Amino acid sequence: MHTAVQERIIRPARNILGSLRLPGDKSISHRYAMLGAFAAGTSRFTNFSTGADCASTLTCMRALGAKVNRLGTDAVEITGVAGRATPVDHPLDCGNSGSTMRMISGLLAPQQGRFTLIGDSSLSRRPMERIRKPLEAMSARITLTDGHAPVIIEGTRLEAIDYTTPVPSAQVKTCILLAGLQTSGTTTVRESVRTRDHSELALRAFGATVTRTLDSVSVAGPQPLHAIEAAVPGDISSAAFFLCAAALFPRSGLVIESLGLNPTRATLLDVLTALGAHIAVLNLEEKHAELVGTVQITAPAEGLGSTEVSGALAAQLIDELPVLASIAPFTRGGIRIRDARELRVKESDRIALVAKNLRAMGAEVIEFEDGLDVPGGQTLHGAPIDSGGDHRIAMAFSVAALKAKGETLIQGAESAAISFPEFFDLLDLVAER
Ligand code: S3P
Repeated sequence: MHTAVQERIIRPARNILGSLRLPGDKSISHRYAMLGAFAAGTSRFTNFSTGADCASTLTCMRALGAKVNRLGTDAVEITGVAGRATPVDHPLDCGNSGSTMRMISGLLAPQQGRFTLIGDSSLSRRPMERIRKPLEAMSARITLTDGHAPVIIEGTRLEAIDYTTPVPSAQVKTCILLAGLQTSGTTTVRESVRTRDHSELALRAFGATVTRTLDSVSVAGPQPLHAIEAAVPGDISSAAFFLCAAALFPRSGLVIESLGLNPTRATLLDVLTALGAHIAVLNLEEKHAELVGTVQITAPAEGLGSTEVSGALAAQLIDELPVLASIAPFTRGGIRIRDARELRVKESDRIALVAKNLRAMGAEVIEFEDGLDVPGGQTLHGAPIDSGGDHRIAMAFSVAALKAKGETLIQGAESAAISFPEFFDLLDLVAER
Protein backbone atom coordinates (compact mmCIF):
# COMPACT_ATOMS: atom_id res chain seq x y z
CA MET A 1 0.00 0.00 0.00
CA HIS A 2 1.47 3.38 -0.95
CA THR A 3 0.19 6.43 0.91
CA ALA A 4 1.13 9.89 -0.34
CA VAL A 5 3.68 11.72 1.77
CA GLN A 6 1.93 14.28 3.96
CA GLU A 7 3.02 17.23 6.00
CA ARG A 8 1.26 18.32 9.13
CA ILE A 9 1.55 21.58 11.03
CA ILE A 10 1.53 21.32 14.82
CA ARG A 11 0.87 24.50 16.75
CA PRO A 12 1.86 25.00 20.39
CA ALA A 13 -0.73 24.09 23.03
CA ARG A 14 -1.72 25.79 26.28
CA ASN A 15 -2.70 22.60 28.04
CA ILE A 16 -3.65 18.93 27.66
CA LEU A 17 -7.05 17.99 29.04
CA GLY A 18 -9.52 15.21 28.41
CA SER A 19 -10.32 11.56 28.40
CA LEU A 20 -9.32 9.00 25.76
CA ARG A 21 -9.76 5.36 24.87
CA LEU A 22 -7.12 4.10 22.46
CA PRO A 23 -7.11 1.52 19.67
CA GLY A 24 -5.85 -1.95 20.49
CA ASP A 25 -2.25 -2.75 21.32
CA LYS A 26 -0.16 -3.43 18.22
CA SER A 27 1.94 -6.21 19.78
CA ILE A 28 -1.09 -8.06 21.14
CA SER A 29 -3.06 -7.61 17.90
CA HIS A 30 -0.25 -9.17 15.83
CA ARG A 31 -0.12 -12.16 18.15
CA TYR A 32 -3.88 -12.66 18.35
CA ALA A 33 -4.08 -12.46 14.55
CA MET A 34 -1.33 -15.04 14.04
CA LEU A 35 -2.54 -17.45 16.70
CA GLY A 36 -6.17 -17.05 15.59
CA ALA A 37 -5.10 -17.78 12.02
CA PHE A 38 -3.32 -21.00 13.06
CA ALA A 39 -5.95 -22.14 15.59
CA ALA A 40 -8.92 -24.39 14.95
CA GLY A 41 -12.22 -22.50 14.91
CA THR A 42 -13.30 -18.88 14.62
CA SER A 43 -11.75 -16.21 16.85
CA ARG A 44 -13.28 -12.79 17.35
CA PHE A 45 -11.33 -9.74 18.43
CA THR A 46 -12.65 -6.31 19.33
CA ASN A 47 -10.56 -3.14 19.63
CA PHE A 48 -8.06 -4.74 17.24
CA SER A 49 -5.20 -2.41 16.24
CA THR A 50 -6.20 0.00 13.47
CA GLY A 51 -2.57 0.45 12.36
CA ALA A 52 -1.16 -0.54 8.98
CA ASP A 53 1.32 -2.96 10.62
CA CYS A 54 -1.41 -5.23 11.95
CA ALA A 55 -3.24 -4.93 8.63
CA SER A 56 -0.05 -6.38 7.05
CA THR A 57 -0.26 -9.34 9.43
CA LEU A 58 -3.94 -9.89 8.57
CA THR A 59 -3.16 -9.80 4.83
CA CYS A 60 -0.43 -12.43 5.29
CA MET A 61 -2.73 -14.62 7.39
CA ARG A 62 -5.41 -14.45 4.70
CA ALA A 63 -2.85 -15.46 2.05
CA LEU A 64 -1.89 -18.45 4.22
CA GLY A 65 -5.46 -19.74 4.18
CA ALA A 66 -7.13 -18.14 7.21
CA LYS A 67 -10.53 -16.51 6.67
CA VAL A 68 -10.25 -12.94 7.86
CA ASN A 69 -13.29 -10.67 8.14
CA ARG A 70 -12.89 -7.11 9.31
CA LEU A 71 -16.12 -5.98 10.95
CA GLY A 72 -16.15 -2.18 11.06
CA THR A 73 -12.88 -0.43 11.84
CA ASP A 74 -11.73 -2.40 14.83
CA ALA A 75 -13.38 -5.82 15.04
CA VAL A 76 -11.89 -8.84 13.31
CA GLU A 77 -13.16 -12.37 12.87
CA ILE A 78 -10.58 -15.02 11.93
CA THR A 79 -11.23 -18.65 11.07
CA GLY A 80 -7.95 -20.47 11.46
CA VAL A 81 -6.22 -23.15 9.38
CA ALA A 82 -5.90 -25.53 12.37
CA GLY A 83 -2.13 -25.76 12.15
CA ARG A 84 -1.64 -26.20 8.42
CA ALA A 85 -0.95 -23.15 6.22
CA THR A 86 -1.94 -23.13 2.56
CA PRO A 87 1.04 -22.91 0.19
CA VAL A 88 1.27 -19.50 -1.51
CA ASP A 89 2.81 -18.79 -4.88
CA HIS A 90 3.40 -15.07 -4.31
CA PRO A 91 5.54 -13.23 -1.74
CA LEU A 92 3.93 -12.35 1.59
CA ASP A 93 4.20 -8.57 2.01
CA CYS A 94 5.02 -7.57 5.60
CA GLY A 95 4.99 -3.86 4.72
CA ASN A 96 6.80 -1.81 7.39
CA SER A 97 6.31 -4.41 10.12
CA GLY A 98 9.32 -6.11 11.68
CA SER A 99 7.02 -8.00 14.06
CA THR A 100 5.14 -9.50 11.11
CA MET A 101 8.26 -10.63 9.27
CA ARG A 102 10.13 -12.01 12.28
CA MET A 103 7.21 -13.76 13.96
CA ILE A 104 5.75 -15.25 10.75
CA SER A 105 9.17 -16.72 9.94
CA GLY A 106 8.82 -18.87 13.05
CA LEU A 107 5.28 -19.85 12.16
CA LEU A 108 6.25 -20.91 8.64
CA ALA A 109 9.66 -22.56 9.12
CA PRO A 110 8.05 -25.90 10.17
CA GLN A 111 5.23 -25.72 7.58
CA GLN A 112 5.18 -27.53 4.23
CA GLY A 113 6.05 -25.41 1.21
CA ARG A 114 8.19 -22.49 0.13
CA PHE A 115 7.42 -19.00 1.45
CA THR A 116 8.96 -15.64 0.62
CA LEU A 117 8.54 -12.70 2.99
CA ILE A 118 9.16 -9.20 1.69
CA GLY A 119 8.84 -5.71 3.16
CA ASP A 120 9.12 -2.01 2.33
CA SER A 121 12.47 -0.23 2.01
CA SER A 122 12.75 0.37 5.78
CA LEU A 123 11.97 -3.25 6.69
CA SER A 124 14.37 -4.46 3.98
CA ARG A 125 17.20 -2.67 5.79
CA ARG A 126 16.46 -4.23 9.20
CA PRO A 127 18.49 -7.15 10.60
CA MET A 128 17.00 -10.61 10.04
CA GLU A 129 20.07 -12.66 10.96
CA ARG A 130 18.72 -12.66 14.52
CA ILE A 131 15.88 -14.97 13.45
CA ARG A 132 17.83 -16.99 10.87
CA LYS A 133 20.38 -18.11 13.48
CA PRO A 134 18.01 -19.74 15.98
CA LEU A 135 15.75 -21.12 13.25
CA GLU A 136 18.74 -22.69 11.51
CA ALA A 137 19.80 -24.15 14.85
CA MET A 138 16.37 -25.84 14.76
CA SER A 139 17.28 -27.17 11.24
CA ALA A 140 15.11 -24.67 9.39
CA ARG A 141 16.01 -23.73 5.83
CA ILE A 142 16.10 -19.93 5.57
CA THR A 143 17.81 -17.75 3.00
CA LEU A 144 18.46 -14.03 3.43
CA THR A 145 20.32 -11.52 1.29
CA ASP A 146 23.17 -10.00 3.27
CA GLY A 147 21.28 -10.64 6.49
CA HIS A 148 18.16 -8.90 5.20
CA ALA A 149 14.79 -9.55 3.58
CA PRO A 150 13.54 -11.14 1.46
CA VAL A 151 13.27 -14.04 3.87
CA ILE A 152 12.95 -17.24 1.85
CA ILE A 153 11.76 -20.23 3.83
CA GLU A 154 11.75 -23.85 2.64
CA GLY A 155 9.46 -25.41 5.21
CA THR A 156 10.83 -28.52 6.88
CA ARG A 157 10.56 -30.62 10.05
CA LEU A 158 12.39 -28.84 12.89
CA GLU A 159 14.18 -29.91 16.06
CA ALA A 160 13.59 -28.35 19.48
CA ILE A 161 16.33 -26.09 20.87
CA ASP A 162 17.44 -24.33 24.01
CA TYR A 163 18.45 -20.85 22.87
CA THR A 164 19.77 -17.76 24.64
CA THR A 165 18.97 -14.57 22.73
CA PRO A 166 22.09 -12.40 22.27
CA VAL A 167 20.01 -9.19 22.06
CA PRO A 168 16.80 -8.92 24.10
CA SER A 169 13.97 -9.14 21.55
CA ALA A 170 10.36 -10.19 22.02
CA GLN A 171 10.07 -10.65 18.26
CA VAL A 172 12.92 -13.15 18.19
CA LYS A 173 11.60 -14.91 21.29
CA THR A 174 8.18 -15.18 19.67
CA CYS A 175 9.62 -16.43 16.38
CA ILE A 176 11.34 -19.30 18.21
CA LEU A 177 8.28 -20.11 20.34
CA LEU A 178 6.00 -20.24 17.30
CA ALA A 179 8.40 -22.65 15.61
CA GLY A 180 8.74 -24.65 18.85
CA LEU A 181 4.97 -24.93 19.19
CA GLN A 182 4.95 -27.01 16.00
CA THR A 183 8.07 -29.06 16.80
CA SER A 184 8.43 -32.29 18.82
CA GLY A 185 10.31 -31.83 22.07
CA THR A 186 10.75 -28.84 24.36
CA THR A 187 11.95 -25.55 22.92
CA THR A 188 13.31 -23.06 25.44
CA VAL A 189 14.22 -19.40 24.97
CA ARG A 190 16.39 -17.69 27.58
CA GLU A 191 16.84 -13.94 27.82
CA SER A 192 18.95 -11.67 29.99
CA VAL A 193 16.23 -9.00 30.12
CA ARG A 194 12.61 -9.99 30.36
CA THR A 195 11.05 -8.68 27.14
CA ARG A 196 7.32 -8.18 26.61
CA ASP A 197 5.52 -11.43 27.36
CA HIS A 198 2.40 -11.10 25.20
CA SER A 199 3.25 -14.26 23.24
CA GLU A 200 3.49 -16.36 26.36
CA LEU A 201 0.15 -15.02 27.63
CA ALA A 202 -1.53 -15.30 24.22
CA LEU A 203 -0.31 -18.86 23.65
CA ARG A 204 -1.87 -19.85 26.97
CA ALA A 205 -5.09 -18.03 26.09
CA PHE A 206 -5.29 -20.04 22.86
CA GLY A 207 -4.90 -23.24 24.88
CA ALA A 208 -1.18 -24.01 24.71
CA THR A 209 0.88 -24.98 27.72
CA VAL A 210 3.83 -22.65 28.22
CA THR A 211 6.19 -22.89 31.19
CA ARG A 212 8.21 -20.00 32.52
CA THR A 213 11.03 -19.27 34.92
CA LEU A 214 12.38 -15.82 35.75
CA ASP A 215 14.58 -15.79 32.65
CA SER A 216 13.25 -18.50 30.35
CA VAL A 217 10.15 -19.65 28.56
CA SER A 218 9.51 -23.15 27.20
CA VAL A 219 6.95 -24.74 24.96
CA ALA A 220 6.64 -28.49 24.38
CA GLY A 221 5.42 -29.20 20.85
CA PRO A 222 3.50 -30.02 18.92
CA GLN A 223 0.44 -28.42 20.49
CA PRO A 224 -2.84 -27.38 18.87
CA LEU A 225 -4.48 -24.00 19.43
CA HIS A 226 -8.16 -23.26 19.82
CA ALA A 227 -10.05 -20.10 18.86
CA ILE A 228 -10.82 -17.39 21.44
CA GLU A 229 -12.86 -14.20 21.79
CA ALA A 230 -10.96 -11.22 23.13
CA ALA A 231 -11.01 -7.45 23.50
CA VAL A 232 -7.54 -6.05 22.79
CA PRO A 233 -6.34 -3.61 25.50
CA GLY A 234 -5.52 -0.03 24.42
CA ASP A 235 -1.95 0.42 23.20
CA ILE A 236 0.31 1.83 25.92
CA SER A 237 3.01 2.71 23.36
CA SER A 238 0.41 4.92 21.63
CA ALA A 239 -0.70 6.28 25.01
CA ALA A 240 2.95 7.24 25.65
CA PHE A 241 2.63 10.26 23.33
CA PHE A 242 -0.35 11.60 25.27
CA LEU A 243 1.08 10.78 28.69
CA CYS A 244 4.32 12.58 27.84
CA ALA A 245 2.37 15.54 26.41
CA ALA A 246 0.24 15.78 29.56
CA ALA A 247 3.36 15.58 31.74
CA LEU A 248 4.58 18.85 30.19
CA PHE A 249 1.69 21.14 31.19
CA PRO A 250 1.34 22.07 34.88
CA ARG A 251 -2.48 22.28 34.80
CA SER A 252 -3.00 19.16 32.67
CA GLY A 253 -5.43 16.36 33.39
CA LEU A 254 -5.67 13.33 31.16
CA VAL A 255 -7.49 10.04 31.66
CA ILE A 256 -6.88 7.01 29.42
CA GLU A 257 -9.34 4.14 29.84
CA SER A 258 -9.01 0.42 29.04
CA LEU A 259 -5.28 0.73 28.60
CA GLY A 260 -2.98 -2.29 28.42
CA LEU A 261 -0.83 -2.26 31.58
CA ASN A 262 1.12 -5.49 31.22
CA PRO A 263 4.09 -4.98 33.58
CA THR A 264 6.57 -5.75 30.77
CA ARG A 265 5.14 -2.75 28.88
CA ALA A 266 4.24 -0.23 31.57
CA THR A 267 7.74 0.99 32.54
CA LEU A 268 6.93 4.45 31.15
CA LEU A 269 4.56 5.01 34.07
CA ASP A 270 7.45 4.46 36.49
CA VAL A 271 9.72 6.78 34.53
CA LEU A 272 7.13 9.56 34.37
CA THR A 273 6.53 9.12 38.10
CA ALA A 274 10.29 9.38 38.71
CA LEU A 275 10.23 12.61 36.68
CA GLY A 276 7.57 13.96 39.05
CA ALA A 277 4.30 13.33 37.19
CA HIS A 278 1.31 12.27 39.30
CA ILE A 279 -0.12 9.01 38.01
CA ALA A 280 -3.02 6.98 39.33
CA VAL A 281 -4.08 3.56 38.03
CA LEU A 282 -7.73 2.58 38.54
CA ASN A 283 -10.13 -0.21 37.59
CA LEU A 284 -7.42 -2.83 37.07
CA GLU A 285 -8.63 -6.11 35.62
CA GLU A 286 -7.18 -9.05 33.71
CA LYS A 287 -8.28 -10.03 30.22
CA HIS A 288 -6.70 -13.25 28.96
CA ALA A 289 -3.97 -12.60 31.56
CA GLU A 290 -3.25 -9.12 30.16
CA LEU A 291 -3.65 -6.34 32.76
CA VAL A 292 -5.99 -3.55 31.68
CA GLY A 293 -6.85 -0.38 33.57
CA THR A 294 -7.49 3.35 33.60
CA VAL A 295 -4.57 5.74 33.92
CA GLN A 296 -4.92 9.31 35.19
CA ILE A 297 -2.03 11.73 34.85
CA THR A 298 -1.39 15.28 35.98
CA ALA A 299 1.86 17.17 35.66
CA PRO A 300 3.91 18.50 38.58
CA ALA A 301 3.50 22.26 39.13
CA GLU A 302 7.27 22.70 39.38
CA GLY A 303 7.94 20.92 36.05
CA LEU A 304 9.54 17.53 35.36
CA GLY A 305 12.82 16.64 37.08
CA SER A 306 15.49 14.46 35.51
CA THR A 307 16.14 10.77 34.96
CA GLU A 308 18.39 8.17 33.40
CA VAL A 309 17.19 5.23 31.33
CA SER A 310 19.79 2.48 30.93
CA GLY A 311 20.35 -1.27 31.32
CA ALA A 312 17.21 -3.42 31.35
CA LEU A 313 15.03 -0.31 31.46
CA ALA A 314 16.25 0.74 28.03
CA ALA A 315 15.13 -2.57 26.51
CA GLN A 316 11.75 -2.43 28.22
CA LEU A 317 11.13 1.17 27.14
CA ILE A 318 12.53 0.82 23.65
CA ASP A 319 9.42 2.05 21.80
CA GLU A 320 8.86 4.94 24.20
CA LEU A 321 12.41 6.36 24.09
CA PRO A 322 11.85 8.69 21.10
CA VAL A 323 9.02 10.54 22.83
CA LEU A 324 10.85 10.62 26.17
CA ALA A 325 13.87 12.14 24.42
CA SER A 326 11.65 14.65 22.63
CA ILE A 327 10.27 16.05 25.90
CA ALA A 328 13.63 15.93 27.69
CA PRO A 329 14.61 19.55 26.86
CA PHE A 330 11.54 20.72 28.80
CA THR A 331 12.55 18.90 31.98
CA ARG A 332 14.56 20.71 34.63
CA GLY A 333 17.45 18.27 34.78
CA GLY A 334 17.46 16.52 31.39
CA ILE A 335 17.25 12.86 30.40
CA ARG A 336 20.17 10.49 29.83
CA ILE A 337 19.58 7.40 27.67
CA ARG A 338 22.12 4.56 27.38
CA ASP A 339 22.21 0.86 26.38
CA ALA A 340 19.66 1.62 23.68
CA ARG A 341 21.73 0.66 20.61
CA GLU A 342 18.70 -1.25 19.29
CA LEU A 343 17.11 2.13 18.52
CA ARG A 344 19.47 2.37 15.57
CA VAL A 345 17.88 -0.64 13.83
CA LYS A 346 14.21 0.17 14.29
CA GLU A 347 12.02 1.57 11.49
CA SER A 348 14.73 4.24 11.24
CA ASP A 349 17.95 5.04 13.09
CA ARG A 350 15.98 6.57 15.94
CA ILE A 351 19.03 7.88 17.82
CA ALA A 352 20.24 9.82 14.77
CA LEU A 353 16.78 11.14 13.88
CA VAL A 354 15.93 12.20 17.43
CA ALA A 355 19.24 14.09 17.66
CA LYS A 356 18.77 15.68 14.22
CA ASN A 357 15.22 16.83 14.94
CA LEU A 358 15.96 18.11 18.45
CA ARG A 359 18.78 20.17 16.94
CA ALA A 360 16.45 21.45 14.21
CA MET A 361 14.22 22.78 17.00
CA GLY A 362 17.20 24.54 18.57
CA ALA A 363 18.00 22.03 21.33
CA GLU A 364 21.39 20.96 22.52
CA VAL A 365 21.84 17.18 22.50
CA ILE A 366 24.81 14.81 22.71
CA GLU A 367 24.59 11.65 20.64
CA PHE A 368 26.21 8.38 21.72
CA GLU A 369 26.44 5.09 19.86
CA ASP A 370 23.91 3.64 22.32
CA GLY A 371 21.91 6.66 23.43
CA LEU A 372 21.57 10.38 23.97
CA ASP A 373 22.11 13.04 26.61
CA VAL A 374 19.45 15.72 26.40
CA PRO A 375 20.04 18.56 28.86
CA GLY A 376 17.00 20.11 30.54
CA GLY A 377 15.91 23.72 30.88
CA GLN A 378 15.92 24.38 27.14
CA THR A 379 13.56 26.40 24.94
CA LEU A 380 12.65 24.93 21.56
CA HIS A 381 11.35 26.62 18.45
CA GLY A 382 9.13 25.16 15.76
CA ALA A 383 10.99 23.68 12.77
CA PRO A 384 10.58 21.29 9.85
CA ILE A 385 10.84 17.74 11.27
CA ASP A 386 12.24 14.85 9.26
CA SER A 387 10.25 11.81 10.41
CA GLY A 388 12.26 9.53 8.12
CA GLY A 389 8.94 7.79 7.41
CA ASP A 390 9.08 6.48 11.00
CA HIS A 391 5.75 6.61 12.85
CA ARG A 392 7.22 7.02 16.31
CA ILE A 393 9.49 9.90 15.21
CA ALA A 394 6.54 11.72 13.58
CA MET A 395 4.44 11.38 16.74
CA ALA A 396 7.28 12.10 19.21
CA PHE A 397 8.05 15.44 17.58
CA SER A 398 4.37 16.34 17.38
CA VAL A 399 4.48 16.16 21.17
CA ALA A 400 7.64 18.31 21.45
CA ALA A 401 5.94 20.79 19.08
CA LEU A 402 3.16 21.40 21.62
CA LYS A 403 5.64 23.11 23.92
CA ALA A 404 7.81 24.83 21.27
CA LYS A 405 7.62 28.47 20.19
CA GLY A 406 5.96 28.78 16.78
CA GLU A 407 4.75 26.13 14.37
CA THR A 408 6.37 22.78 13.66
CA LEU A 409 6.05 21.03 10.31
CA ILE A 410 6.01 17.24 10.57
CA GLN A 411 7.23 15.82 7.26
CA GLY A 412 6.04 12.30 6.56
CA ALA A 413 3.16 12.67 9.02
CA GLU A 414 1.24 9.88 7.25
CA SER A 415 3.65 7.38 8.83
CA ALA A 416 1.74 7.72 12.14
CA ALA A 417 -0.82 5.38 10.55
CA ILE A 418 1.68 2.51 10.78
CA SER A 419 0.67 2.10 14.42
CA PHE A 420 -1.84 4.87 15.19
CA PRO A 421 -3.97 6.38 12.38
CA GLU A 422 -6.11 8.33 14.87
CA PHE A 423 -3.12 10.10 16.46
CA PHE A 424 -3.50 13.61 15.02
CA ASP A 425 -7.28 13.71 15.53
CA LEU A 426 -6.94 12.66 19.16
CA LEU A 427 -4.12 15.15 19.70
CA ASP A 428 -6.43 17.93 18.45
CA LEU A 429 -9.08 16.66 20.85
CA VAL A 430 -6.97 16.94 24.01
CA ALA A 431 -4.62 19.84 23.13
CA GLU A 432 -6.07 23.19 24.24
CA ARG A 433 -4.88 25.94 21.98
C1 S3P B 1 7.75 -5.87 19.53
C2 S3P B 1 9.01 -5.97 20.07
C3 S3P B 1 9.99 -4.90 20.03
C4 S3P B 1 9.34 -3.56 19.73
C5 S3P B 1 8.38 -3.64 18.59
C6 S3P B 1 7.28 -4.64 18.87
C7 S3P B 1 6.84 -7.02 19.63
O1 S3P B 1 10.95 -5.17 19.04
O2 S3P B 1 10.31 -2.58 19.46
O3 S3P B 1 7.79 -2.38 18.34
O4 S3P B 1 5.62 -6.87 19.37
O5 S3P B 1 7.31 -8.11 19.98
P1 S3P B 1 12.20 -6.16 19.28
O6 S3P B 1 11.70 -7.53 19.48
O7 S3P B 1 13.02 -6.03 18.03
O8 S3P B 1 12.89 -5.60 20.48
